[in-house]
Amino acid sequence: MIKIKIIIIPIFILSFLSIANGATTGETFHEETKLTWTQILKDLIIPNPAKPPQFKEYNDKPKIVMPAPEYKGISLEDALTKRRSIREYSKNPLTLPEVSQLLFSAQGITGKQFGTLLRTAPSAGALYPFEIYIIVNDVETLKKGIYHYSVRDHTIILIKEGDFRKDVMHAALDQEMMKDAGVVFVLSAIFDRVRSKYGERGYRYTYMEAGHISQNIYLQATSLGLGSVVIGAFIDNDINELVGVDGKKEAVIALHAVGKI
Ligand SMILES: Cc1cc2nc3c(=O)[nH]c(=O)nc-3n(C[C@H](O)[C@H](O)[C@H](O)COP(=O)(O)O)c2cc1C
Repeated sequence: MIKIKIIIIPIFILSFLSIANGATTGETFHEETKLTWTQILKDLIIPNPAKPPQFKEYNDKPKIVMPAPEYKGISLEDALTKRRSIREYSKNPLTLPEVSQLLFSAQGITGKQFGTLLRTAPSAGALYPFEIYIIVNDVETLKKGIYHYSVRDHTIILIKEGDFRKDVMHAALDQEMMKDAGVVFVLSAIFDRVRSKYGERGYRYTYMEAGHISQNIYLQATSLGLGSVVIGAFIDNDINELVGVDGKKEAVIALHAVGKI
C-alpha cells in the first residue's frame, strides 16, 4: 500500500503541475522558436539539418511550357483597393495565360544575385522553401489533375491525372468553392531548406512566406479580374496525401482557390 502511494502521489503532483503550468502547443511553439541570444549561440554549436536540393524535379514526366508572363494589369493601388476574398465562381474555365501569370506571381523568377535565382515573393535568406502545385479543375487546354510548377523554366508537369474536385473540397471541410474554382494552388514547404540555416525558427519564416505568396496570388487574381480566396481550413494529411508529400519533411501550408467570376 505504501509502495503504491509512493508511486502514485508523485505522478499526481507532476501531472497537476504540468496542467497548472502547462503551456499549449501553440505557446510552446512560439516560445521555443523565439530568437534570443542564447538560441543564436545554440544554433552556432548544434548543427542544423542539411539543405535539401533547391528545386524539386519530376524528370520522368513531360513538361508543359507555360506562356511567358507579360500581362500589364491595373495599378497596384487599384489591386490593393479592389482585392477581396471571392468564394463564388462562374462555370467558365480559366485560360492558360491566366494560370501562367498567377504561377509567376506566386514564385516566378525575377532576378539573380550571387548565383541565387530570386523570385516574386520574398524569402528568408533567399532559401525558398515552397513548392507550388496546382489542382486543375477547369483550365482551357489542360487536363484535369495535379501539376507541379517548375519555377526555373516556368513549366508545369502533370504528376497525377484525374478529377480531384470532390477530394479537395472534402479535404477543405466541404468548402464548396474548392470544387468550383478553375484552379486550386497548393503551397507546400520543404522545411529543411530553411531549417538548414535558421534551425527551428525556420518554421516561423516558412509560415510568414506562405502569406507573401498568397497575397501575390490575391493581387494578381484581382488584376486579372478573377476571384480568389486563401484557405487555411483543411485536413492537413488529406491534402498532403493528395499531392504526394509526407507532411513532415514537406507539408502543405496553405491552399488558394482561383476562378472566373
Ligand atoms: C490564414 C488565412 C486562412 C483563411 N482561411 C479561409 C478558409 O479556410 N475559408 C475561407 O472561406 N476564407 C479563408 N480566409 C479568408 C478570410 O476569411 C478573409 O481574408 C477575411 O474574411 C477578410 O476578407 P477579405 O479577404 O475579403 O478582405 C483565410 C484567410 C487567411 C489570412
